[in-house]
Amino acid sequence: MTENNKQKYSLGIVGGTGKEGKGLAYRWLKAGHTVIIGSRQHEKAQRAVEELSEFMGHTPEGLQGMENRAAVEACDIAVITVPYAAHKATLEDLKDALQGKIVIDVVVPIMPPKISKVQMPAAGSAAQEAQVILGDTCQVVDAFQNISHERLMGQGDTDCDVLVCGKGKAARDVVLGLVADTGLKGWDAGPIENAMVVEGLTSVLIGLNMQHKVHASGIRITGIPDQV
Ligand SMILES: NC(=O)c1ccc[n+]([C@@H]2O[C@H](COP(=O)([O-])OP(=O)(O)OC[C@H]3O[C@@H](n4cnc5c(N)ncnc54)[C@H](OP(=O)(O)O)[C@@H]3O)[C@@H](O)[C@H]2O)c1
Repeated sequence: MTENNKQKYSLGIVGGTGKEGKGLAYRWLKAGHTVIIGSRQHEKAQRAVEELSEFMGHTPEGLQGMENRAAVEACDIAVITVPYAAHKATLEDLKDALQGKIVIDVVVPIMPPKISKVQMPAAGSAAQEAQVILGDTCQVVDAFQNISHERLMGQGDTDCDVLVCGKGKAARDVVLGLVADTGLKGWDAGPIENAMVVEGLTSVLIGLNMQHKVHASGIRITGIPDQV
């Protein structure tokens, strides 16, 4: 498939007014996908659309802002980018609208103030928590936990890989395609039970950021030759 005839999706980003959501929106818009920025407030979603348009130097054809519920109802694939403290309530609220969809969960169970210490919820990870809340018709897939919004909004080499794990190989493959569309290298990191490692790594990276006075450390998988 060429770049032009690759499948395009409508991506509804819940909490898309925030730092990580806008970074992902920027990357997916550049790849030609439709992006619906979701927010608890319609006006805030519209402001995020204006900010992104200004950042990109034009208003991309496929960019819209809506309340979270409308964004989820209108999208093919939902993306969750709210703080962990809002994760459970947000998913419970949108559960009916998310049924039958792939849900890309970007949330890391960061529990301030100890943000550089891995603290997993009882379910094992935020992704497993989401899968329990949403039920079996949804496929929750973890991705982008280890890539900072600063790198997503940057222009150069992102120097960071993305581990993708979650329910079902077919769903992971769709998300791996969307990772590739952001310009990042994605890896199939297996079933949803592996999400605790992927999400936990973020606290390790936050600790490294603090130690080395940087903002955006990341990970690379090595030892696997490039596929021809
Ligand atoms: N920032 C990063 O570099 C980064 C990297 C990897 C993963 N993540 C993960 O991605 C998620 C989002 O991170 P972020 O830095 O983008 O967060 P953020 O900017 O602090 O918040 C994102 C959005 O979440 C919504 N929100 C905030 N409080 C809420 C509440 N109580 N209920 C419902 N929605 C609420 C807000 O949207 P509205 O007010 O418009 O509703 C906000 O704009 C987090 O779980 C984080 O762990 C972040």
